[in-house]
Amino acid sequence: MAVFHVNDCIRKTKQGIPLTAAEIGALVRGITKEPLIPDYQLSAWLMAVCLRGLTDDETAALTMAMRDSGQTMHWDMLGGPVADKHSTGGVGDKTTLILAPIAAACGIFMPKMSGRGLGHTGGTIDKLESIPGFSTALAPEAFLEQVKKIGFAVAMQTGDLAPADKKLYALRDVTETVDSIPLICASIMSKKLATGADHILLDVKVGSGAFMKNDEDAAELARLMLAAAKADGRDCTAVLTDMDRPLGMNIGNALEVLEALEVLDGDTESALGAFCVTLAAELLHMAGKGTKEACRAQALQAVQSGAAMERFAQMIAAQGGDPRVTENRSLLPVSPCTRTVKAERGGWIAAMQSEQIGRASVLLGAGRMTKADSIDPGAGIRLTAQYGDKVAQGDPLMTLYAQKESQLDEAEAFLRGAVSIAETEPEQRPLIRKIYSTGDAT
Ligand code: URA
Repeated sequence: MAVFHVNDCIRKTKQGIPLTAAEIGALVRGITKEPLIPDYQLSAWLMAVCLRGLTDDETAALTMAMRDSGQTMHWDMLGGPVADKHSTGGVGDKTTLILAPIAAACGIFMPKMSGRGLGHTGGTIDKLESIPGFSTALAPEAFLEQVKKIGFAVAMQTGDLAPADKKLYALRDVTETVDSIPLICASIMSKKLATGADHILLDVKVGSGAFMKNDEDAAELARLMLAAAKADGRDCTAVLTDMDRPLGMNIGNALEVLEALEVLDGDTESALGAFCVTLAAELLHMAGKGTKEACRAQALQAVQSGAAMERFAQMIAAQGGDPRVTENRSLLPVSPCTRTVKAERGGWIAAMQSEQIGRASVLLGAGRMTKADSIDPGAGIRLTAQYGDKVAQGDPLMTLYAQKESQLDEAEAFLRGAVSIAETEPEQRPLIRKIYSTGDAT
């Protein structure tokens, strides 16, 4: 390649002229290695991408270069199917807590790297840390041993994984350049590919509480992520799922662990339970465990037999937590101040603003405004009615949990506008909107 000038990249992208893979490689190298590209030039390029987009080839090249910017993990030593699952971020999304033990009970390895919640969306690490004693700071050897023995482990994603994304994401966050589909694809897939699983299940959230607000954008993100996975020889399925309502009934860390335990206890008929069984069947099918019907039966059996709950308890114990929470739910923290929010009129719940509900849970103490904030593990919201339910005036809609009455006041005021009650029954909307796979004909 001729001498690399970052200005050439900025100008080309601004003019819609595609960059070569070598140019993208040099640009990504300059994010983490000397001579470093200054933030102002990276920011200018990010804005050019936001306004002009990238071609599919550029997006794939960016993803691979970011994947290779740090450590890449390999799991051949496990000698079995290795799967990963990623959600693009939602409200009340405790799927990993249910899916990983089901997969492990069905003979699939899941070495899971997860993050904390930020903004109105929750994070798996915060949820698990609400279990007394639980630690997600695992040394690499302990992590591997646990995956070998129990089938899964959940650790905090380290800065060694796709460090170029860490730097770019921080810049995007403060330069209004987060909402670019190629940049979101490269950010998510660089980390997923670096984590090394052969089978990757992507849960692409769509709706008011998600990055992707409509089906078209979500389908485009899914298409790009599948293309990146395919280019790297990975098996990938993307499930487009509804975030125009929170997932399940509980929002908040210990509250979400509680709801996950209810599903693992056998509640596969609830909307959350059925959703997780479908996702688990997709994952098992990808990992070669049979037809989707056979895989659904295996997932259900893993729950009904108690095998998935047993794996969950083993995982909790291995990571320093108190496994008795799986039997005695009163060991989970609950914030002392509670309030029930009631319906101001009767009718059908026709809309749930999940973003607002997520923000209210942050006000209650379940999330952070900034990375430095601490959270209250027992805070959150327990919905008593969901989208499509009929309620009478005065019926409870939800219960709020916090440390202080003032937090309840603030969250309640915020939540009043988050639930719309209509006189007519809204259309039935499935939680799973669409499923795409790298195996599909294109
Ligand atoms: N999650 C990520 O990891 N990156 C994005 O860009 C958006 C969501």
